Amino acid sequence: MAAAESDSKSPFSLDSYHVSEEFGFILPNPLEELPPYYQPWMDIALRVPELVHSHKLRSHINKMPLLSSQFLQKHPELRLAHLALSVMTMGYAWQEGDKGTVEMLPYNLAVPYWEVSQRLGLPPILTHSDAVLANWRKKDPEGPFDMKNLELLVSLPGGDSVRGFFMVTMLVELAAVPALRNIPVVINGVRCGDTEAVARALEDISQSIQDMTEAIKLMHVYVEPSVFYGIMRIYLSGWKDNPSMPKGLIYEGVQAEPMEYSGGSAAQSSLLHCFDELLGVKHEEKSGAFLTRMRNYMPPAHKQLIQDISLQPSLKSFVQQQASERLRQAFQHCVTKLLALRSYHINVVSRFITVPAAHARQLRNQSQELEQEMISRAPTALEERGTGGSSIMSFLKTVRNQTKDTLLPETGKEMEHHS
Ligand code: HEM
Repeated sequence: MAAAESDSKSPFSLDSYHVSEEFGFILPNPLEELPPYYQPWMDIALRVPELVHSHKLRSHINKMPLLSSQFLQKHPELRLAHLALSVMTMGYAWQEGDKGTVEMLPYNLAVPYWEVSQRLGLPPILTHSDAVLANWRKKDPEGPFDMKNLELLVSLPGGDSVRGFFMVTMLVELAAVPALRNIPVVINGVRCGDTEAVARALEDISQSIQDMTEAIKLMHVYVEPSVFYGIMRIYLSGWKDNPSMPKGLIYEGVQAEPMEYSGGSAAQSSLLHCFDELLGVKHEEKSGAFLTRMRNYMPPAHKQLIQDISLQPSLKSFVQQQASERLRQAFQHCVTKLLALRSYHINVVSRFITVPAAHARQLRNQSQELEQEMISRAPTALEERGTGGSSIMSFLKTVRNQTKDTLLPETGKEMEHHS
């Protein structure tokens, strides 16, 4: 793995960070099947939504044979195994909703899940790197990489909205690929003082961030807010700071004490972490601690990339030192686009969480009969808090405001220079 500091003479490159030229952080061509020995896992993993619906998932998992993880060899095999074991685990934990949780994951699931997680350097819970980055196939292998031609490998309860939620998030990852590719250009340009190259790269990054915001808009087309809030969201919830599983979860055969892990969220996507480090966005203590913790839910090579970007000479200082209006504008533009993305994301969260939560509260207060409605059955514990246990809106607004604070003051150094 790369260690930028010790090797700062050679140009910065993405080669050693498991970043694909074409797909960025998305796993290129994920494996669709495991070796036949692992059929008992796949047989259940592929049926999670249906088995949860019939309340039979737990009994199927309890009867599953204990398989050894040693026949999983290559990285794509481990990723598919982690994905499959993750959806089984989320289904197992939440099959009976927030009132019927379990204290223990049975050893025949917990032991191999733990081993696979250790080998990948991922936590034993469903992460963004499973559900979004390693959960896709093209229907027509020769066809385009778009909503029509893409499908999930495994799913969770919630029907088409689940596909929409994971696929749209993947399209956001795809839109970010040009930005990712330009990160080394910025870093190398700063190192050798090439103002024009840095400005050009920042302009490309701005465009790419804008394309990410455009891609997020597809959420409104492909995901139904009441389905997201009322059905899907619980299956993305973890067992850390979650009143429905206050003690966490015992992984039987792994450790006697329960363990706590946060649920899946795009806060675990490496993209914004990379941009923040590049642009010098400094996070406030509490929200910063949550975001830093989310890095432990990423593939280690991606986490390393974020870390290595953070060790580079400051781009912001470089921009302030150079008397280049184009460079200054390009930097401001980039931060502005990141700010716009975060503002738009806050709107999305309001549409998919705040509004349905208010609706659910209203329904519960209105009448007992309406209790049966899907939305009002959503776990009340999730109303106020993010999947990571943070108070969502104040967290997101703090992060957005910290982004704003990264903008250069109106009268920059070069302005003083001219006057
Ligand atoms: C229906 C769609 C979405 C909902 C309801 C949603 C919800 C949330 C929530 C509740 C948080 C707070 C932290 C947590 O609970 O883990 C969060 C954080 C975050 N989300 Fe989303 N999200 C959605 C889509 C996306 C997409 C498509 C992206 C793009 C990659 C994204 C990127 C982020 C990031 C980067 C954070 C961390 C805060 C930040 O850096 O600004 N989200 N999201």
